[in-house]
Amino acid sequence: MLIKSPSASDCKESDVTPESFYLSRRSLLGGSLAGLAVGALPRWSEASDASQYADVEPGAAPGWFKDKLPTTQWQAMTVKGEAITPFKDATHYNNFYEFGTDKGDPAQNAGSLKTEPWSVVIDGEVGKPGRYALEDFMKPYQLEERIYRLRCVEAWSMVIPWMGFPISALLKQVEPTANAKYIRFETLQDPKTMPGQRSGFALIDWPYVEGLRLDEAMNPLAILAVGMYGRELPNQNGAPLRLVVPWKYGFKSVKSIVRISLVSEQPKTTWQSIAANEYGFYANVNPTVDHPRWTQAHERRLPSGLFSPNIRQTEMFNGYGEQVASLYTGMDLRKNY
Ligand code: MTE
Repeated sequence: MLIKSPSASDCKESDVTPESFYLSRRSLLGGSLAGLAVGALPRWSEASDASQYADVEPGAAPGWFKDKLPTTQWQAMTVKGEAITPFKDATHYNNFYEFGTDKGDPAQNAGSLKTEPWSVVIDGEVGKPGRYALEDFMKPYQLEERIYRLRCVEAWSMVIPWMGFPISALLKQVEPTANAKYIRFETLQDPKTMPGQRSGFALIDWPYVEGLRLDEAMNPLAILAVGMYGRELPNQNGAPLRLVVPWKYGFKSVKSIVRISLVSEQPKTTWQSIAANEYGFYANVNPTVDHPRWTQAHERRLPSGLFSPNIRQTEMFNGYGEQVASLYTGMDLRKNY
């Protein structure tokens, strides 16, 4: 990165924030949900209240999105005792190099991204390849809310309530062949609407590509997100479809996905291609393996400032070791960073 300086359905009961507490935290985000009775379900109309999302007006959500809002309780997967990052920070401190390299560029420039119509290609080692309009692609899935830590390799972090569905459900639909060993994701390539892709100085060989081993993608924590904070993804956060793998550094969470391929070889991923000695394929959050240019032992939890830097210890696998450590049994995580 360009740094100037440095169950889950089966989660433990102790990890689950009581719903009343969670709803009250949500109300703190902007007050619009303060009147919600405990046990009431969030509705689109409330979630899209302008006062809650002051700086990013939700567009008119497409019908398929409204129909899929979670009907289960919101607290299903939460982060013990950690406050949700204010919406403003999560949507104004971004990495999305297609729209510029400064943290504020995506919020400023991503309005040009046209997310409707949107289609997703499924290809490679699958029994059911195809190109799907997003609303058809989404048909088999019900949205779930997942509140996850997001830890960037640059040593800042947030806590974000996503809405999405497990990649395992997608894999069930597309029927990987016996040759499928990895899943590869590709971002839209459209220099007309993505100024970063027009820049002659870009480090990245577009499109942005990421990948997972198939067993990583099957882990129940790995999701494809279409929403956050009870509404559609804002463009700067990767609308209309992005990857979220909370135990890995944020650069794995590829945004604005247009192509998902099942492949037999480990895909060449964007940051690994730029600097393989700094950014590995696995990119598991690991406080004991430093980036060559800075420590990974600590992180700044946003919002953070000069007088309240909000520094915390980084957790192994970003705190999700119980769910994911077995994926890496016997692997040398210093070599496979
Ligand atoms: N996806 C694309 N297509 N382009 C990018 O530049 N940046 C990555 C990831 N996904 C990036 C991307 C990085 S480095 C991070 S930390 C996360 O997006 C940031 O996600 P956020 O802006 O929603 O916090």
